[in-house]
Amino acid sequence: MPVANVDLIDGDLRYYSYNPASKDQLDQISELISANLSEPYSIYVYWYFFHQWPQYCFLVSEKSSEKILGVIICKVGPHRDVRMRGYIGMLVIEPEYRGRGIAKKLVKLSIEKMMEWDHVDEIMLETETSNAAALQLYELFGFLRTKRMHRYYLNGSDAYRLILPVLDRLATRIGFLDRIVDVPAGVV
Ligand SMILES: CC(C)(COP(=O)(O)OP(=O)(O)OC[C@H]1O[C@@H](n2cnc3c(N)ncnc32)[C@H](O)[C@@H]1OP(=O)(O)O)[C@@H](O)C(=O)NCCC(=O)NCCS
Repeated sequence: MPVANVDLIDGDLRYYSYNPASKDQLDQISELISANLSEPYSIYVYWYFFHQWPQYCFLVSEKSSEKILGVIICKVGPHRDVRMRGYIGMLVIEPEYRGRGIAKKLVKLSIEKMMEWDHVDEIMLETETSNAAALQLYELFGFLRTKRMHRYYLNGSDAYRLILPVLDRLATRIGFLDRIVDVPAGVV
């Protein structure tokens, strides 16, 4: 399936694909993430994601501005040679724009594109066990807590691993699947 750039207008906001040629976007993304995530990420982490999966970074701005208000960074690859796994690496919304459904829209867009472009079988991520907002957001989509990892982050906090099963055969084991494939009305 060919990969295409995303460029969507929703009210006064624009959701669009990261441009790998833009140094300004890279600078803004790293600033937004360092200001809002506890884990420190070096430039190599951004290069790792952006050189291999530039298509899986989506940004949000006001329609009339280049200032980045939100970002989601994902990747996709085979897992143990048996399934295709999507991974949500980072998600941040500028504090004054939170609570408006922007993260929900970015997560939905990323899930849909990972399913459309790479036919992922599952999508995984980690988040701090104390991050109630992130847990609630992902659980809305049907992500399941599969593991608790002790002192996973450099700040000493624990993480939950969350997995969204997309594979048809998982439907027989996981009752949440119809919430996944068909995101409930009202979620976005
Ligand atoms: C977590 C974060 C991305 C949410 O962004 P947001 O744009 O405010 O989220 P949305 O407005 O799309 O909210 C979606 C859902 O998330 C949940 N949610 C969002 N903020 C919440 C909060 N403060 N407390 C509890 N649930 C919350 C709700 O279920 C909400 O749905 P609802 O409004 O229908 O109840 C944002 O708070 C953020 O950037 N936090 C700092 C970085 C971070 O923690 N990233 C995630 C790491 S994995």
